[in-house]
Amino acid sequence: MSSLDALDSRIPPSTRRIQTITILGGCGKNGVPEQLRRVDLKMGDIVSVVGPTGCGKTTLINDIELYANGTTPTGRTVLINGEPHPEDYLADPSSNPIALISQHTNFLSDLPVHVFLETHARIRGVASPARAIEETVSFANQLTGEPIILENAMTELSGGQTRSLLIADAIVIGNSPIILLDEIENAGIHRTRALELLKGYEKIFIFVTHDPRIALLSDFRIVMRDGAMQKLIVTKEEEKGVAQEIRKLDDLLLGLRQRIRSGDELDSSYLNEKLHELGYVA
Ligand SMILES: Nc1ncnc2c1ncn2[C@@H]1O[C@H](COP(=O)(O)OP(=O)(O)O)[C@@H](O)[C@H]1O
Ligand SMILES: [Mg+2]
Repeated sequence: MSSLDALDSRIPPSTRRIQTITILGGCGKNGVPEQLRRVDLKMGDIVSVVGPTGCGKTTLINDIELYANGTTPTGRTVLINGEPHPEDYLADPSSNPIALISQHTNFLSDLPVHVFLETHARIRGVASPARAIEETVSFANQLTGEPIILENAMTELSGGQTRSLLIADAIVIGNSPIILLDEIENAGIHRTRALELLKGYEKIFIFVTHDPRIALLSDFRIVMRDGAMQKLIVTKEEEKGVAQEIRKLDDLLLGLRQRIRSGDELDSSYLNEKLHELGYVA
């Protein structure tokens, strides 16, 4: 036991450092026990959840967010540091270590962005709110192509801006150690950039994704089928290499998109030149 752990045992469970999350398998849609009976995630892990639409990906991360204790429809159990979650996680939102960025996040409040962020910073007791707000917005603006202005009303933000702001807010102001992201790919976010930025923070990230880059840049991925966790695939070096190649192609597509957006006309020599630069054609 390290001295930090010894110290940890004397402070309330809800304020202890998060070291692990454990998912104990329940049943898939047809009531058959899940093949994968146990998944252990440790601090710093980046994990993807993959599988076709309807296979139970959102349900799995909802179980995590709810700290399932065997009573959700899946029968799964989620443990924090090997134990059931402390009571006050759900009673006091500011002590809840999990932030979920869901697929369908909309704001009903037309507060300006800075008021929303100031309020959250106050609730969380952030020491220097002005700096945290600046960091949050600049983080968010690296994820979205359309810069967020502090005076914008929350309801005015586009899908990509909203999702970017929520991710940045959960990381910087919320300082949440566990972040769940449900299919951010449909939200107009710069995903590779997001992953690079996220890797600079020591957290557990769980991505529900169809995006090969996110999946291949993760430490491992949980494959879902018929509502059940079917298997766990650890990303091998070879797959990480594939992710680098995909990234090049993606940058090429982004460049093309940018040119179309700015009203350019394309000719085949442009594409040939780019493919040549990448070493795909002689
Ligand atoms: N283990 C399970 N047991 C019972 N129903 C499930 C289970 N997993 C998923 N479902 C149901 O299947 C449907 C699709 O699941 P969902 O998690 O939304 O899929 P996905 O996010 O992969 O598209 C939902 O209605 C959900 O309640
Ligand atoms: Mg889903």
